[in-house]
Amino acid sequence: MSESVNGSAAVCVGAVEGLPEGSQTEVRVDGVSVVVVCDAGGYYALRNVCSHQDFPLLGGDVSMGRITCAKHGAKFELATGKAKTLPAVKPVRVYRTRVEDGQVWVEAL
Ligand code: FES
Repeated sequence: MSESVNGSAAVCVGAVEGLPEGSQTEVRVDGVSVVVVCDAGGYYALRNVCSHQDFPLLGGDVSMGRITCAKHGAKFELATGKAKTLPAVKPVRVYRTRVEDGQVWVEAL
């Protein structure tokens, strides 16, 4: 499901019950792969490509509010996309998440 608000796409990720603590899933926003993570009771959405090399972040370990790229171990802050450890130095793009009527939505910032 998707809807258009002011020209930018909002994509429904699914019901809150289907996205429990620690879960990760992939959606496409404007044709771009985005990883959605449920961590510490919040939902975070980041572009699903490590800024070090072209490698998906989906499935990376999540702890302390960070997701770890499985390829070389760079960590990115879920809330901001900032690179917190080498070898990545550039941030990854983050997306806005919201919960509405029990459904999780992702949209471009
Ligand atoms: S590709 Fe992610 S740390 Fe190198």
